[in-house]
Amino acid sequence: MAIQPSVLILNGPNLNLLGTREPHIYGTETLDDIEAACRELAAGLDLEIDFRQSNHEGELIDWIHEARGEHDAIIVNGGAYTHTSIAIMDALSAVALPVVEVHLSNIFRREPFRHHSYVSMAATGVICGFGSQGYLLALQAAARLIDASGDA
Ligand code: DQA
Repeated sequence: MAIQPSVLILNGPNLNLLGTREPHIYGTETLDDIEAACRELAAGLDLEIDFRQSNHEGELIDWIHEARGEHDAIIVNGGAYTHTSIAIMDALSAVALPVVEVHLSNIFRREPFRHHSYVSMAATGVICGFGSQGYLLALQAAARLIDASGDA
């Protein structure tokens, strides 16, 4: 039996508070709800997923490093580190895996400081503004990217 491709889904600071955190911006679903929806879709796409959240920049960076050789693509919602972390951008570039950046909110309709993303400079593509559905769109994109890399 072929080994299932695997996707690391990383969530940055404050995303553990989803459900109660500014629900008018981020919706009422919890991170557990989003993980459950991702697991259901991943099963249909024949993907394994590893779904994680951390409030600590260094921990996110360690997990990105460990993805090399373990995972075939990374989906990342870096939370506020998106807009500040050159270190996360460098880590994503270093592991050279397909990267799909996701945000629940449309960061371009919000405060100007959210319009710039360091993560985008290391991402294959970006999905934002579709709420929790963005994670499912990102998984579909990751599946396509993994398929395409297998054709090479
Ligand atoms: C976010 C957008 C970021 O600007 C913010 O800091 C977050 C969540 C989103 O999913 O919309 O924490 O990444």
